[in-house]
Amino acid sequence: MGYPPGMPNRTRELYARIFENNRKWVASKLVDDATYFERLAADQNPEVLFIGCADSRVPANEIMGLEPGDVFVHRNVANVVPNIDMNAHAVIQYAVEHLGVRHVVVCGHYGCGGVAAAMKSADLGQLNGWLREIRDVYRIHHEELDAIADEKARYERLVELNVQEQCINVIKTSWLQQSYRRNGYPVVHGWVFSLADGLLRDLHIPFEKILDEIRAIYHLDD
Ligand code: CO
Repeated sequence: MGYPPGMPNRTRELYARIFENNRKWVASKLVDDATYFERLAADQNPEVLFIGCADSRVPANEIMGLEPGDVFVHRNVANVVPNIDMNAHAVIQYAVEHLGVRHVVVCGHYGCGGVAAAMKSADLGQLNGWLREIRDVYRIHHEELDAIADEKARYERLVELNVQEQCINVIKTSWLQQSYRRNGYPVVHGWVFSLADGLLRDLHIPFEKILDEIRAIYHLDD
């Protein structure tokens, strides 16, 4: 392959190593199960939709200990579910209506650069509109957040509140409401992943309560 002359050797080596790693991964799967890829190619039946941050340190399958086929994944900057985002909504509709997932997880993470950027007043170009979604979360919860004196604690609380608000945006969708009324699933969960210790924390958002409130205002399930 013709690399640009200025590309560092380590970048070329990484690129080559990815394909080497891939061949090793295929071999390791086939050692355990000679039909692994036949089964994988046949169908997918994930029970979880994971909506997380695009941050390279939050690998969805790995932190949950799940294999290919186990989880449907959508990731973007700061795990946001904007109300008019066709991408996120296509993922949610497909996962709920066609795959019949039992759980939808919105997973944020402490140390999120997207949330940190939303707390600053810098001009970030294309990101401005995207981060406005998080600034909206700050606005909704400004009384609680402004009362937190410690900046790091305030930032970490915004990470949690962003997860909660994005869960609400998932619950607002007609697909979620219709499926839950018809089938009793999926349930929406809010999690935060800690880069410091690798642990997932369940925020225990009050799903049923939020669903009732959302139905009262958005009533999309009739
Ligand atoms: Co992030």
